[in-house]
Amino acid sequence: MFAVIEGIEGSGKSTLQAGVAEALRARGRRVTTTREPGGSPLGDAIRSIFLSTELEVIPVAEAMLVNAARAQHVAALIRPALERGETVICDRFVDSTLAYQGYGRGLDLSMLRGLCDLAVGGLEADLTIVLDCDPTLSRRRLDARGSARDRLENERLGFHERVREGFLALARGGTRHVVLDAAETPENLVAAALAAIDGVGSRG
Ligand code: TMP
Repeated sequence: MFAVIEGIEGSGKSTLQAGVAEALRARGRRVTTTREPGGSPLGDAIRSIFLSTELEVIPVAEAMLVNAARAQHVAALIRPALERGETVICDRFVDSTLAYQGYGRGLDLSMLRGLCDLAVGGLEADLTIVLDCDPTLSRRRLDARGSARDRLENERLGFHERVREGFLALARGGTRHVVLDAAETPENLVAAALAAIDGVGSRG
């Protein structure tokens, strides 16, 4: 099964991913965790270009960079892991492009969907968990982290509001989405995510 966790920066995606992976492994499931942009040497190289505060990256270039990374990621890591029967939990996937480059930057959604389709070759998540997070909470968490903000984290609050609304709109329009409140405790979020994953398992 292919599960994706989405949400704005500081929504707690990586904590949730780690908690869910640990719980599934404790039940004997083989789990691969990965993230976008990233997941391959090419993806990691693109990630550092993408997030650099030293570079100007126009929206169309953003969309192409993340999808170049995604194409490699799907072919080299995600599909092989799924074919081995593993559960793949990915921190961000296609919805991030639609939310950030579409709702956030204003690029056309159908153009973006076409580009993402080219990258993923028909692969869809069986479940997308959206961690819905108020951008002011996200800002507080990022500030508490103390490290320098990357290029996207540096964007104004209004941008992050649009991205948040984008994730919610995509969830409303999707059939395989579950929205969780990022302000919940990590324990409650792991329990809710496991229930959603079990729901997909029993759906077959
Ligand atoms: P993060 O996953 O550590 O939050 O950092 C990844 C950043 O990349 C985040 O700001 C969202 C952004 N991003 C896009 O803008 N479009 C995409 O398609 C993906 C996967 C990520």
